[in-house]
Amino acid sequence: MKRYTVAELLSSTNFLNEVTLNGWVRTFRANRFIALNDGSTIKNIQCVVDFENTDENILKRITTGAAIKVKGTLVESLGKGQSIEIQVSEIKILGESNPEEYPIQPKKHSLEFLRENAHLRIRTNTFSAVMRVRSALAFAVHKYFTEKGFYYFNAPIITGSDAEGAGEMFRVSTLDYNNFPKNEDGKVDTSKDFFGKTTNLTVSGQLEAETYAMALGKVYTFGPTFRAENSNTTRHLSEFWMIEPEVAFNNLDDNMDLSEDFIKSVINYTLKNCKDDLAFLENRLLQEEKSKPANERSDMNLLEKLNFVVNNNFKRVSYTEAIDILRNCKPNKKKKFQYLINEWGADLQSEHERFLVEKHFKCPVILFDYPANIKAFYMRLNEDGKTVRAMDVLFPGIGEIVGGSQREERLDVLKQKIAELHIDEKELWWYLDTRKFGTAVHSGFGLGFERLVQFTTGMGNIRDVIPYPRYPQNAEF
Ligand code: 4AD
Ligand code: MG
Repeated sequence: MKRYTVAELLSSTNFLNEVTLNGWVRTFRANRFIALNDGSTIKNIQCVVDFENTDENILKRITTGAAIKVKGTLVESLGKGQSIEIQVSEIKILGESNPEEYPIQPKKHSLEFLRENAHLRIRTNTFSAVMRVRSALAFAVHKYFTEKGFYYFNAPIITGSDAEGAGEMFRVSTLDYNNFPKNEDGKVDTSKDFFGKTTNLTVSGQLEAETYAMALGKVYTFGPTFRAENSNTTRHLSEFWMIEPEVAFNNLDDNMDLSEDFIKSVINYTLKNCKDDLAFLENRLLQEEKSKPANERSDMNLLEKLNFVVNNNFKRVSYTEAIDILRNCKPNKKKKFQYLINEWGADLQSEHERFLVEKHFKCPVILFDYPANIKAFYMRLNEDGKTVRAMDVLFPGIGEIVGGSQREERLDVLKQKIAELHIDEKELWWYLDTRKFGTAVHSGFGLGFERLVQFTTGMGNIRDVIPYPRYPQNAEF
């Protein structure tokens, strides 16, 4: 007999049909009503047990968390809260769940408690909704780029180069911790390591993606990236997923257009395809907001926020304009910022980004043309000689969601920059080759996938939008 999912049955009107389904018990009331969930939707299906004709030994094993198989008839429900239910004719316990020990009880658990039980938290409504939306967003990413003629490119995960030049990398090594091979000068002899050199987990697939864009035209990566920065914030992970499109012949304006269209498109996909989950998450957020002081509550609910982003233009502002705004704004003058903005050249912190987005412009903002010395080596130098064609997309509640740029395509300018930063040119010989052979204007950006999931689901902490978060002092599971 065909095995149905709860999602299929809830949208079915084939009443009186005999059906079979499997799932996990969420609650069991009055020895009669099972709320069954199988992950296919946030909704449970009500299964009504004929307890008088059911073995008592089975009834007492129908507890929260147990896996069961149900056979029964699909009928219209007379009860409140659902339109259909299953009249159970046969029930089988597939896997018991000890109610005394099972941590996920039908009550509200704190997100911190659930993080410690990340292997079980997916059994809650909140986490199943978040992870279904995450999955839908991932599909929307591939759909968007495929439909626009991009090729999916897999950058290497183990690499010898530091794309961002920030030195925040995790080393990959098979050397014996307790017995490092040494050079004559006493230093560790990395030539004896597995790859014959120092290697790390990638911080970004960009440099390799550039080489592919220079042949395939339009490519994008979507893979894990790793950063060993000691940031314990609600927006940083040590292991996160990044989407990095790279397009030959695109300049910075094209790049901004692409980032805006892309973000709107994938969020719009979830608005159309994740209605139940988003409705649940919106309600969850409303409850959470109630416990906040009035001045910290958001003036838009989740769906309004998502629709706002999809339907409005992102504001494009140069770094120089942004600095003028920040220098003269109230929190700066009243010394409310932790980092005060005194002069042009200052690196923007998340408090400044969020001020611009949430208080000043009240919409997503794309900042561009940053000072060269606060950005990576590969960005194209402007005619002014001091700014580069960089862009950051800033979002409410999140801050930076995208970082990108037009790339420096001129070999001599790039080489000079590499020399200034004391980067070893020999390490980048293959990257420089793209500037020697058929170089051209090109641009790309990186979108932090978890920050996108965070924005779309309204979750406050990035650790709650990836199945098993990695952050300093934590690599459990
Ligand atoms: O701004 P970033 O460092 O840019 C790059 O890596 C470029 N190579 C991208 C490119 O041009 N192809 O990172 C890009 C984005 C950030 O805007 C942010 O959304 C996310 O990646 N990100 C993080 N997300 C979670 N945890 C972290 N530690 C992150 N660091 C960056
Ligand atoms: Mg950045």
